[in-house]
Amino acid sequence: MEALVKADVFPATQQYTYLNAASVAPMSKMTAKATLDWQEDLALRGTVHFDEEAETRVFDSLREVGARLLGARPDEIAGASNASESLCSMAWALSPGPEQNVVSSRIEFPSVVYPWLRVARTTGCQVRLTKDENHVINPDELLGLIDDRTSAVCISHVQYSTGQRLDLRALADVAHRHGALLIVDATQSAGAVPIDVVADDVDILVTSGYKWLCGPFGAAMMFVRRELHDDLEPGLVGWRSTSTVFDFQADALEWAPSASRFEFGTLAYGCTIGMMTAIEHLLEIGIDQIHSYNLALAGQLTEGLASQGAEFVTPAMDDLRSSIVTARFPGHDQARVAQLLNEEGVVVSPRIGAVRFAPHVYNTAGDIARALDVLKDILERN
Ligand SMILES: Cc1ncc(COP(=O)(O)O)c(C=O)c1O
Repeated sequence: MEALVKADVFPATQQYTYLNAASVAPMSKMTAKATLDWQEDLALRGTVHFDEEAETRVFDSLREVGARLLGARPDEIAGASNASESLCSMAWALSPGPEQNVVSSRIEFPSVVYPWLRVARTTGCQVRLTKDENHVINPDELLGLIDDRTSAVCISHVQYSTGQRLDLRALADVAHRHGALLIVDATQSAGAVPIDVVADDVDILVTSGYKWLCGPFGAAMMFVRRELHDDLEPGLVGWRSTSTVFDFQADALEWAPSASRFEFGTLAYGCTIGMMTAIEHLLEIGIDQIHSYNLALAGQLTEGLASQGAEFVTPAMDDLRSSIVTARFPGHDQARVAQLLNEEGVVVSPRIGAVRFAPHVYNTAGDIARALDVLKDILERN
């Protein structure tokens, strides 16, 4: 299998066997440069190059790039600093009442569930969570929790701990039949798994930029379906929430007539520019191609781990998975195995009492082979 990108494009991969995109992906040298160039220019010239027009241009470019990534329209994209703030703002925008419920999963990343638990303390809504035995979400159980009182189903496209991927269209169909919204956290899929918010009928989607999108910390984005713009009053509000941002009129809160009403303050602009550079690069390669490539790496990894006696936490669903592979090594201290791998330059994360491997576009078959060799040695010696 031929590498998808040249070895020197992601400098970290020349030094490490980097299998940790589910935590933080390294940046390409183009992304790092775009981010740093902006910071340097601001430090040296302040607003001379970065005036109000330039600020507006960053938001507009992000809308255009984000729309291409997600199959959305530019006015359906809002810039954000991280995924958690977008989820919070949306939970307060919906503020389900005491007769309503929100459906999610017990093994979700906390930011997907906490905002609803917080809102529930104020409004009395019910938060319904699937049981998820053995860290696997049973889609039938999830669908079974949705009823006519469901305000929203809020769930990750790909689970952070196991890489389990959900069928968004199936979720949207049932949610919509009951008048509920589908809110998706795509932080573990955007950049690695094709996303089409129209084909999948997604209502709201958030993604952070520092994982599979290979951007820096401090940049994220949100998709809000056009039909919802007029009805949603964001939970987080500030000077950038209006359509007349530079009027600075504090006595009149008139929401922007697009997803940009969810933008409320300044962004880390250099980081947003970095994230856009990263997305453009991934789009040039092609997300479909990245997805198949990553799955091939994950397949090679799974086979090698199985031959070393691994037990898989990642469910064996060939048609619905990502490249995250989470495995345990019976008879070993899992956190110690992860630590020793890291010490040998094989960068992985310990998660849910197991070791999580997350190969991405910059990895090669050689990386996977090296990781398996190093692991073999660790398991034999410990
Ligand atoms: C599914 C998911 N959502 C959100 C986050 C965190 O996003 P942010 O740091 O942008 O709030 C993570 C981080 O691991 C995640 O896995």
